[in-house]
Amino acid sequence: MSSLLQGVNLYLIGMMGAGKTTVGQLLAKQLSYGFVDTDNVIAQAAGKSINQLFAEAGEAAFRQLESDVLAQVCAYTKLTIATGGGIVMRQENWSYLHHGLIVWLDVPVELLYNRLAEDTTRPLLQDVDPKGKLRSLIEERTPLYSQADLKITVNHEETPEQIANRVMEMI
Ligand code: S3P
Repeated sequence: MSSLLQGVNLYLIGMMGAGKTTVGQLLAKQLSYGFVDTDNVIAQAAGKSINQLFAEAGEAAFRQLESDVLAQVCAYTKLTIATGGGIVMRQENWSYLHHGLIVWLDVPVELLYNRLAEDTTRPLLQDVDPKGKLRSLIEERTPLYSQADLKITVNHEETPEQIANRVMEMI
C-alpha cells in the first residue's frame, strides 16, 4: 500500500475530458481498489443520461444528486472515484473530498478540446462556442482544483497508463 494513501479513497478531480474515468479504472486495478464514477452512479440511479438529467431536471438538481453520491461513497474506503468536472463548485463537497486523497488531473484547454470536439454527452459543451466555454470553466474552476492534495499536469498526449503510473509514483 502506498504511503500517502493508507487505504483511504482516492478522488480524481479535473475538467471533463481530463481522463478521470480511464485513469481511475487503471489506478483502481493497480491499488486493488474498487472503482466508482459519480456520473455513472447518478445516471444509473436515475435511469437517464446526464444530458437528459440536465435537460429535464436542470443543473441544480444534478448537482444535488452529485453531492448525494459523494456523501454515500465517503462512507467506504479503498475506492478510486472519478468525479464529475463540476464537483469542486460546491463548498459542501470539499468536506467529503477531504476524507480521502484528492488528485487533480490538470490538462490544458487544447488537449481537452481535441478530445471533446465531437463529444455529445457533456451538456455544458452544447454551446455555440464549446472551446470558449471550456476556457471559462477552466478559469472559474482552477482556483478550486488547486485545492487538491496532488496535481498531475498533462501537457502533451500521454497514454492513460503513463498518467496512472505518474500518479502511482506520487502516492
Ligand atoms: C460536468 C462534467 C461531467 C458531468 C456533467 C458536468 C462539468 O463529468 O458531471 O456533464 O460540470 O464539468 P466529466 O468530468 O466526467 O465529463
